[in-house]
Amino acid sequence: MGSCAHHDFIPVTLCLVLSPMKLFAISDLHLDHRANREALQDLPAFTDDWLILGGDICSSPRHLREALDTFCARFAHVVWVPGNHELWVDDRDPFDSSVAKYEELVEVCRHSGVSTPEDEYPLWQGPGGTHRVVPLHLLYDYSFRPGSVAAESAVDWAVESGVLCRDEYQIDPGPFASKAEWCRARVDYSRHRLRECSDGTPLVLVNHFPLRYDLVRTMRIPRFSIWCGTRATEDWHREFGASVVVSGHLHMRCTDYRDGVRFEEVSLGYPRDWRRERGIEHYLREILPGPAQARYHHAGPFWQF
Ligand SMILES: [Fe+2]
Ligand SMILES: [Fe+2]
Repeated sequence: MGSCAHHDFIPVTLCLVLSPMKLFAISDLHLDHRANREALQDLPAFTDDWLILGGDICSSPRHLREALDTFCARFAHVVWVPGNHELWVDDRDPFDSSVAKYEELVEVCRHSGVSTPEDEYPLWQGPGGTHRVVPLHLLYDYSFRPGSVAAESAVDWAVESGVLCRDEYQIDPGPFASKAEWCRARVDYSRHRLRECSDGTPLVLVNHFPLRYDLVRTMRIPRFSIWCGTRATEDWHREFGASVVVSGHLHMRCTDYRDGVRFEEVSLGYPRDWRRERGIEHYLREILPGPAQARYHHAGPFWQF
């Protein structure tokens, strides 16, 4: 686009043809599954485009390193946020806690030139206008639950329905006393940084977990919602001036609109959640410039197949 700007006689439409730069997003690649790893090798190059990786890419630093090699060779820039699977630790891991593992994954990303929630938020300058892309690592605090359920009883309430997220025994929040405390610290840190960078540039907010409770659609296991986000971010799309909010985790690909802001759930998912014959490229969601259709004030879900 930069070179086009110097030639006033070139029509805008031609500029777009010459510079078809796009911002894509995908999450929940779950590369621990061999079928997903193999499919990734068939992904073509999108040389001028950027890619957002929305978490649950894999659970081991080695797989993350390999995945980033693949993505960095195919995209102009990559932005990463962790999912819950990235934070899993067990006795065989060299990490003291999930917090230590997260710090190691940030270093893996930085080594590849990939933007993380700890880095300066990159500026997208392309079709759709200048946007600040904001990777977030916010976790959850069990507040996505009915008001009648006390915070201390949230996990028991979910277990009563036969649901227990593996995070309960594989995410170690130390030195924080609990995952809810780690979440609170992440929310405070991110809110502070968002206020600091607020200059009217529209944002693309990226978080593994949905920012709003009403977008958590866990129909078959409704009480799983407690492991899906925090009510603290319910209004961040308006408070910080987002154009688009990107999340994953639910493995239910869809687009919603709230207050005129587009919310994109961009999961690929386990091998059962997507169709191999379509290739992973079919599941890359275009975030910018985005869909040509009119924006809605409040609508969705528009399921993405
Ligand atoms: Fe996932
Ligand atoms: Fe997840």
